[in-house]
Amino acid sequence: MKKIKIFDTTLRDGEQSPGCSMTLEEKVLFAKQLEKLNVDVIEAGFAASSDKDLKAIQEISKNVTTPIITSLARCNYSDIDKAYESLKFAKKKRIHVFIATSNIHMEKKLKMTKDEVLMKIKQMVSYAKSKCNDIEFSLEDATRTEDKFMLEAIAVAIKCGATTINIPDTVGRITPKEFNRILNLIKQNVPGINMVDLSVHCHNDLGLAVSNSLEAIECGVNQVECAINGIGERAGNAALEEIVMALKVRNDYYHAETNINTKEIINSSKLLVDITGSLVQNNKAIVGANCFLHEAGIHQAGVINDKKTYEIIDTEELGIDADNIVIGIHSGKHALISKLKKLGIVFEEEKINEYLMEIKKYLEENKTISDEMIITIVNKERCKKLVP
Ligand code: KIV
Ligand code: ZN
Repeated sequence: MKKIKIFDTTLRDGEQSPGCSMTLEEKVLFAKQLEKLNVDVIEAGFAASSDKDLKAIQEISKNVTTPIITSLARCNYSDIDKAYESLKFAKKKRIHVFIATSNIHMEKKLKMTKDEVLMKIKQMVSYAKSKCNDIEFSLEDATRTEDKFMLEAIAVAIKCGATTINIPDTVGRITPKEFNRILNLIKQNVPGINMVDLSVHCHNDLGLAVSNSLEAIECGVNQVECAINGIGERAGNAALEEIVMALKVRNDYYHAETNINTKEIINSSKLLVDITGSLVQNNKAIVGANCFLHEAGIHQAGVINDKKTYEIIDTEELGIDADNIVIGIHSGKHALISKLKKLGIVFEEEKINEYLMEIKKYLEENKTISDEMIITIVNKERCKKLVP
């Protein structure tokens, strides 16, 4: 079975998107959730973008030990120094260096020639490598880059020590077939490409980010970059939960698996919504509120006899459990503890009375409370308490 590494960029590309910024406490809380989800790599931020980002990457590095922690850097000494500084507490660290390689980006943004860009890749990948063994190199706007130049740029990065080569569809315009051609071209023509990890990073401007990521997996890439709930620049990044569940549910087709603990997908999605206030639509694949609800009579009749008539995903794999505990105005702390355990969220037992007080305040005004609202209240209380 082929293993696919999951590189989560919710805290970097995701956090960059409008309405999704997070405090340091929220970033640490979310990174801990990503560790429970068992992602392979957490892109914790872009250290050079602000001191706040640098500090957050350091705090995440202190608090999260299983995944690799990475920090983004442009191709200059100062960015790479800051990325390295931000990772000084990380048990497993990676510097993620990038530069744009498409004509439009080189001419209109970088104002650099191809030779100058190749020189920068050579100098800066080598410099990053002198500090850290694990180096990812990304060709920003790779899918609008001329073939010959793209192959040259990748070859230089590998020669200078890159251990992962990432091919971003920065503007979300590639189609699966075109992506297939580019990835095969790379695999067949770049010396040393089989010695490094090959990764993709797809944006969703045309709604193709997940399809393109899955096509890339079929082409043989072994890392995909994605974000919880598909958040990210503009229309977002490929949604982590959709890629992971497509590989799991259609394992008969893809013959590939991830290390993701799928029982933590819903918790991760909800925590992100609670932190950012950025909701997912009810019909969003995997994590939308309507995914496992049935209203039409014909469908109800089917699922009462066998859920598989209309559901292809085993809800147990997502940690969704039929629950009959109802939290009401008269409930005590034992009922709430049992409820929170069933919901599978992280909570502090010694704070249970504080959670209960907040829940009862809500119930005084609203009569009933949904599981989602209970989780929201607990997560809000936890955020208040974290990191002095
Ligand atoms: O979309 C993109 O090209 C990026 C790179 C920095 C990896 O986010
Ligand atoms: Zn991106």
